[in-house]
Amino acid sequence: MTIDESQVTAAVAAVIDPELRRPLAELGMVGRVQVRRRKVTVEVALPVADYPQVDELVGRIRHAVGPLPGVDQLTVDRVVMDEEPRARLRMLLRGEPVDGGTQHAPDGDHGHSHGGQLGHEEGRPNRFMLPRSKTRIIGISSGKGGVGKSSVTVNLAVALARMGFDVGVLDADVYGFSVPKMLGITSDPLIIGDLVVPPTANGVRCLSMGFFVADDTPVIWRGPMLHKALEQFLVDAYWGEPDFLLIDMPPGTGDVTLSLGQYLPKTEVFVVTTPQPAAQRVAQRSAYAARKLKLAVRGVIENMSWFTGDDGTRYELFGAGGGSHLASELGVPLLAQVPLVPALRQGGDEGIPVTVADPEGEAAAVFSGLATSIVEMGPARVYRKELSVS
Ligand SMILES: Nc1ncnc2c1ncn2[C@@H]1O[C@H](COP(=O)(O)OP(=O)(O)OP(=O)(O)O)[C@@H](O)[C@H]1O
Ligand SMILES: [Mg+2]
Repeated sequence: MTIDESQVTAAVAAVIDPELRRPLAELGMVGRVQVRRRKVTVEVALPVADYPQVDELVGRIRHAVGPLPGVDQLTVDRVVMDEEPRARLRMLLRGEPVDGGTQHAPDGDHGHSHGGQLGHEEGRPNRFMLPRSKTRIIGISSGKGGVGKSSVTVNLAVALARMGFDVGVLDADVYGFSVPKMLGITSDPLIIGDLVVPPTANGVRCLSMGFFVADDTPVIWRGPMLHKALEQFLVDAYWGEPDFLLIDMPPGTGDVTLSLGQYLPKTEVFVVTTPQPAAQRVAQRSAYAARKLKLAVRGVIENMSWFTGDDGTRYELFGAGGGSHLASELGVPLLAQVPLVPALRQGGDEGIPVTVADPEGEAAAVFSGLATSIVEMGPARVYRKELSVS
């Protein structure tokens, strides 16, 4: 039995690229296919030379073609795409019309959403604010630093991903870009021309200003840079169509909240606090700042609630009641109480989130409960003036 080139091509075409998560044919990554009797050579055209997850990709091609009847020997050659297909790929990923393709441009927002348009120089829309976007934007905020905002963001993201959702995290905390490390990101973002593809770890895509600024960049410069960067991260980055985009917001009431109010008015804010009354009061201020910008504050997450000793006794090291008190002040539910667990800190330091390292543990159970609550509560209803009845 022999196999012909079109059969091999069809098998390669349907392979899903692990990085861009779309079929190779759609991405223009299927190169030449040759069949010499029972020896098959397949070329895969990589968007850039240093393409992430190539081994996984080649493995998937082997898996798709190798077992086909008539294939005795399979060689997968890696080549780099020419400029023209790369430009087409970029347009495809941006959702811009591609010549001769079947892609359609996004509908445009028809100027109705207040603040959803970014007024980008080239008029590219902020896809997250298009009416048909299914992405829920979850802002994780806190009044002060060190309460575990980044840990909550990362573990909530992993918990949602484990439930089967497509999840991205945007690290917008200009004071310390800790998310990539905590999530276990080891590669830089993939840059195709001016398009940024966030790297993935533990099933979660992540972009951080930390990828683009040196560690020693003074914080005072980062704020204004971030404002511009946020816009680029939303417009020029390829997120696909995530179900959730989590944003690790900087502590306090500042710039980033303002930018989000402007760019992503559908952001739902979740406030992290510790059980101490002092922390709770600062957290309350950040919630009020969010509300001033018309962002919906959806719930409170208390972190470091207690430590459970070997004998099962709970020690409330940071006091008690902060979370529930803040929740009732804000008129929102207290969605979770995350215990202090050494594995959580260790996981953060080592880039293996506790939800991955110890999925059956006390903390992981709380994060999966939190994820379920957020899913069940559904998206916030965004107040839109043009929809109100007068
Ligand atoms: N529930 C917990 N149990 C154990 N350690 C925790 C817990 N929550 C957070 N930590 C640890 O406390 C430290 C601060 O947490 P994290 O970095 O998540 O806080 P943050 O609010 O994002 O801080 P920053 O303001 O510095 O960004 C980290 O070392 C983290 O591992
Ligand atoms: Mg942090």
